[in-house]
Amino acid sequence: MRRAKITIIGAGNVGATCAHWAAAKELGDIVLLDIVDGMPQGKALDLFEASPVEGYDAAIVGTNSYDDTAGSDIVIITSGIARKPGMSRDELLETNVKIVSSVTEQVVQKSPDAVLIIVSNPLDAMVYTAHKVSGFPTNRVVGQAGVLDAARYRAFLAMEIGCSVEDISAMLMGGHGDDMVPLPRYTTVAGIPVMQLVSAGKLDEIVLRTRNGGAEIVNLLKSGSAYYAPSAATVAMAESIIRDKKRVFPCAAHCDKEYGVGGFFVGVPCVLGKAGVEKVLEIELDSREKEMFHSSVEHVKELCAQTDGFLSK
Ligand code: NAI
Ligand code: 2OP
Repeated sequence: MRRAKITIIGAGNVGATCAHWAAAKELGDIVLLDIVDGMPQGKALDLFEASPVEGYDAAIVGTNSYDDTAGSDIVIITSGIARKPGMSRDELLETNVKIVSSVTEQVVQKSPDAVLIIVSNPLDAMVYTAHKVSGFPTNRVVGQAGVLDAARYRAFLAMEIGCSVEDISAMLMGGHGDDMVPLPRYTTVAGIPVMQLVSAGKLDEIVLRTRNGGAEIVNLLKSGSAYYAPSAATVAMAESIIRDKKRVFPCAAHCDKEYGVGGFFVGVPCVLGKAGVEKVLEIELDSREKEMFHSSVEHVKELCAQTDGFLSK
């Protein structure tokens, strides 16, 4: 059977760690591309040299040439600058629009049938950029943010309750910004509504910590941003697509009539399978949740308007 081909653009912290998780899960053959000469080659070789010890079978190639990416099934785009302490994700916009648009142009020439998973920030605007530049159908362009944000929320809840992270199931919506919308009404602990186990005050604190989860890591690291959890989240999405698992994840997916968004990529519950985003699930939101979701969507729309300005320069 032909193995899936996964290209990862950007061999920095997130990209290289994606390669690590994907190799460990034997998701397919991996191509790691960066503009820095030698670095993706060195990381790919190092990771391949770990395979006899760990016992995974995967070809892992590091490169600076898009020729090596030809015919990829999945392309994960992580190239771009990351934020530093005190910076918001939005401050990365101008630089990363240029990087993500040029990368996307080159990717699609070589892999016209791929599903693109975008990771670069500001996430929702980068998914918009990749979609616009690629001309791909909307189901084949998706952004990673919600799986990470929900994982942070689940981790904080497990710490509070003193239970396994595995038993926390949670949904979260909106953009990948400080106005993301964790949904306690759709959060359960082994089927038990979380509101029965955690006080309202404590839940508010956990929601706030989730919203600031990216900044919390940036402030601790002092240079660069999170990468273990972001790359694990990205590879979980890639796995659902490659293995056609049809997992339900919060992803930045194209919504038109869905939730009345009107044609933008925002975080919503999706089914991920071999066609990419196979379905956006519309769940019932109460008036407070709707208000928070729509205010987050407005922020995404403002960023996309700024993106259009940079794309037309
Ligand atoms: P990093 O700085 O470690 O790696 C970025 C890599 O991109 C570098 O190796 C750089 O050489 C490469 N690159 C830059 N321009 C390129 C180009 N034109 N072609 C190919 N490669 C290029 O940064 P890190 O930590 O890996 O983060 C990458 C991006 O992902 C950032 O924008 C960051 O904000 C974002 N991010 C998004 C998350 C999410 O949940 N959506 C979570 C974590 C990071
Ligand atoms: C995060 O949430 C930087 O967006 C990245 O960690």
